[in-house]
Amino acid sequence: MSKHIPRAFIDDLLARSDIVDLINGYVSLRKTGKNFSACCPFHEEKTPSFSVSPDKQFYYCFGCGAKGNAISFLMDYAQLEFVEAVQELSHRQGLDIPYEQQGDDTERVDTSRRQAILDVLGQAAQFYQQQLRQHPEKQQAIAYLKQRGLSGDIAADFGLGFAPSGWDHLLQQFGQTAAQQQILLEAGLLIEKEQGGFYDRFRHRIMFPIQDRRGQVVAFGGRVLDDSKPKYLNSPETPVFHKGQELYGLYATRQQRPAPDTLLVVEGYMDVVALAQFDVRNAVATLGTATSTEHLKRLFRVVDQVVFCFDGDEAGRKAAWRALDISMPLLGEGREARFMFLPDGEDPDTLVRQEGAKAFQQRIQQAQPLAAFLFQYLAEHVDSDSLTGQMQLLEQAKPVLDKMPEGPAKQLLRDRLGAIDMKNLTQLVPNDSDQTAQQSQHLWQARVQGEREQKQAFRGHLSSMSPMRTVIGLLIQHPILIEHLPELAQATLHDIAGGQILGPLVDFIRQHPHCNTGMILEHWRDDQYSGALHKLAAWEHHLPDDGLVAEFCDAMRRVNQDIQEQRLEMLLQKSRLDHLSRQEKEEFTTLMQQRVRH
Ligand code: UTP
Ligand code: MN
Repeated sequence: MSKHIPRAFIDDLLARSDIVDLINGYVSLRKTGKNFSACCPFHEEKTPSFSVSPDKQFYYCFGCGAKGNAISFLMDYAQLEFVEAVQELSHRQGLDIPYEQQGDDTERVDTSRRQAILDVLGQAAQFYQQQLRQHPEKQQAIAYLKQRGLSGDIAADFGLGFAPSGWDHLLQQFGQTAAQQQILLEAGLLIEKEQGGFYDRFRHRIMFPIQDRRGQVVAFGGRVLDDSKPKYLNSPETPVFHKGQELYGLYATRQQRPAPDTLLVVEGYMDVVALAQFDVRNAVATLGTATSTEHLKRLFRVVDQVVFCFDGDEAGRKAAWRALDISMPLLGEGREARFMFLPDGEDPDTLVRQEGAKAFQQRIQQAQPLAAFLFQYLAEHVDSDSLTGQMQLLEQAKPVLDKMPEGPAKQLLRDRLGAIDMKNLTQLVPNDSDQTAQQSQHLWQARVQGEREQKQAFRGHLSSMSPMRTVIGLLIQHPILIEHLPELAQATLHDIAGGQILGPLVDFIRQHPHCNTGMILEHWRDDQYSGALHKLAAWEHHLPDDGLVAEFCDAMRRVNQDIQEQRLEMLLQKSRLDHLSRQEKEEFTTLMQQRVRH
């Protein structure tokens, strides 16, 4: 499936949207001078360092460096994907997206159908919740939840419900017409009979609604109230639900303020809910599948730290190894995965009940860093006493390590691997009383922490403003300055640092005379220069309004000077090796004369 949102539509959408209105719907903003400010929604703070500029249609946090336009805000705050963010913004503006079909696309994207499916799923969730309060058989369900130690509050927090026994509750309630039945079927709520007709998929079960990042119900898990099989029944794959991507409880964790900076990945619905009952509010569960790359991408988009929770048995360790393997490419920049193994026969639900929240939190704290688990697992799976075993260990570690992006943490792992020899192999396997292993773990933590701090420090801080940066920065922030742009020798721009940005930037602003900062940034969203442009957009130049033009012209004059210097240098070089053409000689003379004048 491939659909394409036209660029011009996104330009138009951003031109019509107001970032202040948008953000004010989530965080209450106060007017402070030209801009608006608030305590930053992206990090915890007591004094406001989050600023929103209506002129630039751009937000920026001086504390944590979060920044972007209206689309970025929806992506980062409401956890939407790019297309979803554009949809949301369009919806707010009452605009329909004029999708363009691409290639040999046969699958029609039908947003109204998707919406109908989402609507009926939301209604079903409410219906099931209502049944838990009203149905004549509700007592069974309530007793079951009580027996599992859940309070009414937690049940309400997670929207738990009850599907009564019987074949046609949903069908009766929401499937009056054939069209409605079709939507219920596509939503995975009905099953089609062979001889025609439909019946309810979920019967006599405790219902766990599965919410997507926006909090919309996209599917259900239903648990039996006794020992019958299957214990859990899940919604099938539907247009709005892909089991291998969704994480149960993720939306709920994002509702916490401040949102947790670590997420715990567990196996079961009940684990998530029981942990929440004990105020461990950062657990998410995969839906009966192994953790996928999609899952991890989703998790690392919202936090830097993920702790995997597995059974301590061999199957659990194998699953952990798989999780490690798919985590590797996503690490770096301070992102970290850790591993926690549970005692035999326990799951987080039973354990937190036995030990209480404090002990459980302690287990999370003590989860094994990735490096430690990596070496321990490898050492467990080769005969580490023999030379062959040692070679095997190196051989097995290398491809795993190669998947990790370059950075200090990877270097540390590489060093440790390089240091392997018979005598210190045992030192690689941590053991609580082993000092070397502990030191090494501290070192690892320090490296990861270092990466994270570097990332923070890098955000928004510019070490020096060259004339080129000044020109680009001022243009991004005040596109109107384009009027004062002197003739640019476009052909020579590529010779100078930053020229490859300035050229296209100037073209864009000329083509979009009324653009703002947010719109400009949008055009470079997936570009290699996106980061640099965002930094320049957030740069605080402290220039008074009436000083902008002068500063811009001065910086531009210096850029032109640099370009000329560079050109001169090039011609000089060439003249030493080669003959200059007549034209080049003339250029050389002119440049030299100009230089004398400066
Ligand atoms: P578990 O059997 O560990 O579930 O399966 P649990 O959450 O501990 O269940 P309780 O405590 O007995 O209520 C873990 C996950 O595997 C999937 C579900 O997503 C479940 O949460 N599963 C399990 C199914 O999809 N179907 C099943 O029949 C069993
Ligand atoms: Mn369980």
